Amino acid sequence: MSLKQTAIAGLVTLALGLAGPKLLGGPLQGQSSKPADDPKAAAPAAQQPAPAATQTAPAAPQTAPAEAAPAGPACGDCHADQAKGLASTRHAWGKAHKNEVPNSVCETCHGDGKAHIEGGGDKEKIYKPAGVEGANKTCLTCHDTPTDRISRHGGMHANSAAVNCLTCHSIHSSAPRSPHLLAQPQLTLCSNCHSTQTATFRNKPYAHHIGRAGLECSSCHEPHGRPGKNALRATSAGEVPCLGCHADKRGPFVFQHGSVAIGECITCHEPHGSSNAKMLKRATVMQLCIECHSPITGTTLGAQPPSFHNLTDPRFQNCTTCHVAIHGSNRDPQLLK
Ligand code: HEC
Ligand code: HEC
Ligand code: HEC
Ligand code: HEC
Ligand code: HEC
Ligand code: HEC
Ligand code: HEC
Ligand code: HEC
Ligand code: HEC
Ligand code: HEC
Repeated sequence: MSLKQTAIAGLVTLALGLAGPKLLGGPLQGQSSKPADDPKAAAPAAQQPAPAATQTAPAAPQTAPAEAAPAGPACGDCHADQAKGLASTRHAWGKAHKNEVPNSVCETCHGDGKAHIEGGGDKEKIYKPAGVEGANKTCLTCHDTPTDRISRHGGMHANSAAVNCLTCHSIHSSAPRSPHLLAQPQLTLCSNCHSTQTATFRNKPYAHHIGRAGLECSSCHEPHGRPGKNALRATSAGEVPCLGCHADKRGPFVFQHGSVAIGECITCHEPHGSSNAKMLKRATVMQLCIECHSPITGTTLGAQPPSFHNLTDPRFQNCTTCHVAIHGSNRDPQLLK
């Protein structure tokens, strides 16, 4: 692609050429493009079948105008930071050349920049997408496609003044270590509106560690909305998202624990953070088991512990010391091994 050859551009290019490899090529490139792929690899493969579909969908069609008019300054001559940042993201893939981005790419979101440039950078003569209007008019022109697995209109985070694409995503200044152009790391981002949930991750002694090992809020939730309660993701087999990572709990077991067979991990575990070891819903294992295996509770599920279980004896209170295969067993119907 022919780059702008004006005096300004020449100077800027020279400056970039010198600074580029050391200052920009390394960190920026690494931050914006590589991690975008890593988490996908780290995250459970089974539960994220769809991204490929989205990636093929939006095409950036208009490349012609600026290529046809090579004269005149480049946006990046005056907005070096924005251009450099953008060059390493998917919005410029295949079109950026050494941190330089053709005006046509900038114009897909900012509209025709001719008047702005002629006005010497007149702020009033260029469009800056912002808020729900920016999201609807700009982002959805490309991201609202029939192949999109997500409805950008429905669901809990559908575009509104309070929550829209640009509350969570930042095109030019996204969080360096967060993939997908997120404005902030997820724990921080989501805490802006869901402080109760994020607090349990931060403060409870037993919790999933968000931000580590590819574990994110979005490992379990589809942030753009998904049919069903809590917008929970599902594995490709339609199961709870937990099994994408804890596949060993799936079985199949010859003797599946009745309640695990239902597949609802959260009947026994807190998904976020918990005060109880193993993120159990109850402080002691016995309390948990007795909720179903008890003659006292009205709705007894499963068998009652045989009479030799003396529940006042501490020996019997930690049920899983004997019923070790609590999620299911291939050898023992009583889940003892
Ligand atoms: C995918 C859409 C998109 C593309 C492509 C894009 N921008 Fe932006 N730009 C935005 C949005 C949205 C904002 C508002 C601030 C934000 O979200 O980062 C913005 C803000 C800006 C600002 C204002 C800075 C600020 O912090 O308010 C400048 C300057 C700018 N862009 C220049 C450029 C240049 C130069 C290019 C091409 C190299 C470009 N943009 C390409 C979407 C885009
Ligand atoms: C000759 C230098 C120059 C060129 C070339 C230039 N701009 Fe600007 N641009 C400016 C100046 C100066 C401002 C005002 C900055 C300020 O007030 O903070 C500005 C502001 C902006 C803003 C912010 C508007 C707002 O409402 O805050 C955007 C977006 C923008 N430019 C995009 C572009 C795009 C896209 C191009 C290429 C089509 C471009 N600029 C080319 C100088 C330039
Ligand atoms: C001209 C078309 C176009 C416009 C307008 C556009 N995008 Fe994109 N966007 C793309 C393409 C193409 C990709 C790369 C394929 C993909 O990941 O879906 C992409 C990728 C993305 C990604 C994923 C980046 C990654 O590293 O995984 C995010 C997030 C995104 N866009 C947000 C936005 C937001 C927010 C806006 C509105 C300011 C916007 N886009 C406007 C075409 C566009
Ligand atoms: C509540 C916050 C939030 C809102 C609002 C939001 N996103 Fe996202 N988006 C995310 C998060 C978090 C991810 C990372 C998901 C992951 O890791 O799979 C993401 C990922 C993406 C991706 C890349 C992966 C994919 O799913 O294809 C694109 C493209 C994208 N968002 C576009 C948009 C657009 C367009 C809008 C506005 C209609 C929008 N997002 C609104 C939080 C949000
Ligand atoms: C390990 C999977 C997992 C992770 C990671 C996760 N969630 Fe959840 N989340 C769930 C499940 C499962 C529910 C449903 C809980 C229920 O029905 O009792 C839920 C429920 C919610 C709800 C609905 C209200 C409530 O508390 O029941 C919100 C809001 C929420 N999560 C936000 C978040 C945020 C923000 C993050 C990241 C900081 C996050 N979640 C991380 C699995 C997860
Ligand atoms: C700007 C505010 C905002 C941000 C940021 C935000 N959310 Fe939400 N979220 C909302 C609103 C508003 C609702 C709808 C509440 C309702 O329906 O009661 C919601 C609802 C939810 C629900 C519950 C859906 C249901 O079915 O009840 C989950 C889960 C959720 N958000 C997860 C997340 C995650 C994960 C993030 C970070 C990636 C996030 N949110 C970031 C505002 C936000
Ligand atoms: C993205 C992968 C992932 C998903 C999805 C996931 N987990 Fe986890 N889980 C982990 C990792 C990794 C750990 C180890 C603790 C840590 O570093 O967060 C863990 C730890 C646990 C522990 C505690 C183990 C211990 O020894 O203390 C329990 C219980 C658990 N997860 C249950 C669940 C449930 C229930 C769900 C679904 C609501 C779920 N997990 C979804 C990755 C995941
Ligand atoms: C009937 C209650 C119950 C259900 C349902 C249940 N668990 Fe557990 N889980 C437990 C108990 C009790 C422990 C602690 C065992 C111990 O004390 O060693 C545990 C421990 C764990 C651990 C940490 C120790 C280990 O074995 O790796 C993980 C991870 C876990 N469960 C994941 C899951 C997942 C995923 C699901 C859903 C498929 C699930 N659990 C469903 C009761 C349950
Ligand atoms: C949500 C209710 C529920 C909870 C909580 C629960 N169970 Fe169960 N359990 C069942 C059901 C249902 C069965 C299957 C009964 C059947 O197939 O007849 C079962 C089966 C069993 C069996 C096999 C014997 C049998 O009746 O088939 C043992 C042993 C057992 N559970 C122990 C435990 C222990 C130990 C805990 C606590 C860690 C626990 N259960 C927690 C519902 C529960
Ligand atoms: C010291 C070891 C031990 C501990 C601790 C223990 N169990 Fe058992 N449990 C057994 C044995 C052994 C059997 C099998 C008895 C048989 O085959 O007749 C059994 C059987 C069961 C059964 C199945 C009864 C049936 O009809 O199939 C249930 C339910 C049960 N236990 C629940 C519990 C609960 C709940 C706890 C914790 C309060 C617990 N157990 C603690 C050893 C233990």
